[in-house]
Amino acid sequence: MPADVHNSPAGSPADSPGVPAAVAALAALETEPGVAKPDPILVADKVSRTFGGLVAVDVDHFEVQRGTITALIGPNGAGKTTFFNLLTGFDRADSGTRTFNGRSLKRISAAKVARMGMVRTFQLTKVLSKLTVLENMRLGAPKQSGERFWVGPFRFLWDGQEKENTERARELLARFKLDAKESDFAGELSGGQRKLLEMARSLMVEPELVMLDEPMAGVNPALKQSLLDHVRSLRDEGRTVLFVEHDMDMVRDISDWVVVMAQGRIIAEGPPDTVMADRRVIDAYLGAHHDTDITELDEETIASEAEAEIAAERLDEGREQA
Ligand SMILES: Nc1ncnc2c1ncn2[C@@H]1O[C@H](COP(=O)(O)OP(=O)(O)OP(=O)(O)O)[C@@H](O)[C@H]1O
Ligand SMILES: [Mg+2]
Repeated sequence: MPADVHNSPAGSPADSPGVPAAVAALAALETEPGVAKPDPILVADKVSRTFGGLVAVDVDHFEVQRGTITALIGPNGAGKTTFFNLLTGFDRADSGTRTFNGRSLKRISAAKVARMGMVRTFQLTKVLSKLTVLENMRLGAPKQSGERFWVGPFRFLWDGQEKENTERARELLARFKLDAKESDFAGELSGGQRKLLEMARSLMVEPELVMLDEPMAGVNPALKQSLLDHVRSLRDEGRTVLFVEHDMDMVRDISDWVVVMAQGRIIAEGPPDTVMADRRVIDAYLGAHHDTDITELDEETIASEAEAEIAAERLDEGREQA
């Protein structure tokens, strides 16, 4: 489990009741882009990615403080999702280094990064609509030793692990109030329920760092509060959260720290109120943001792409293990 962030050393600013030490430590920081954090779980240095002539990401330095909720905001096309892809190994940077818990992530596959304790969800959810809710959960399980070639003689080990995975999946479904739906096809869930399912699935590996790409997009107001509570509860149990979001109410409500990207770079960071009053941030947003509606056709294309991607990833994992 992640380290306990609630024990503040005597005399620290975290003596204020209810504020975890990791969060209180942020108050002492300069609010300049790329500022070093006292206890970073994730560090990226000089990470860049171009598509043709377009510089999508060009981040000089980025650190995420362990045990906090950090928001990554910025106008459409700022490079937030691309940066997530680079950090988690879903895309390869042209240059730069990344470390998680001090370990380099160079040439480590996305699946392995997840097993190391750093998971992410997608802006357009990647739940598999033709699988049931429970099956989707089991796909998030840490190991799929059942696919290993030597499993035959050790089948009892696999069965035990499968049972454990199913139990964990059911616990998480109950926590996210999706337990009544475990046998439904994921495709039958509402947009908000899919977001919850993706979040629940990401917890199957007991991650230390959870990265959420627009958790609020497409979620109806009735579910928003519960989603916020779930994100807070991740921090309260000692995990670190990094999320991308356009919903500024959510950002203001739950973030301990906000990082702003524009045109691939980090242009500001600091506590929510400071950042949102920053002239550069307001300018970057002016006229730049529009909410994009996803059509049904888009959803179908995205779902089939996601299914292909996940199938490919599992093949990859199979090869890694063989
Ligand atoms: N695979 C790709 N091929 C070419 N260009 C890409 C690709 N992925 C992203 N881009 C471009 O890189 C830039 C950054 O895109 P990205 O999706 O990372 O932005 P974002 O900040 O997540 O935006 P949004 O808030 O709309 O989700 C955009 O100009 C986008 O068009
Ligand atoms: Mg995006």
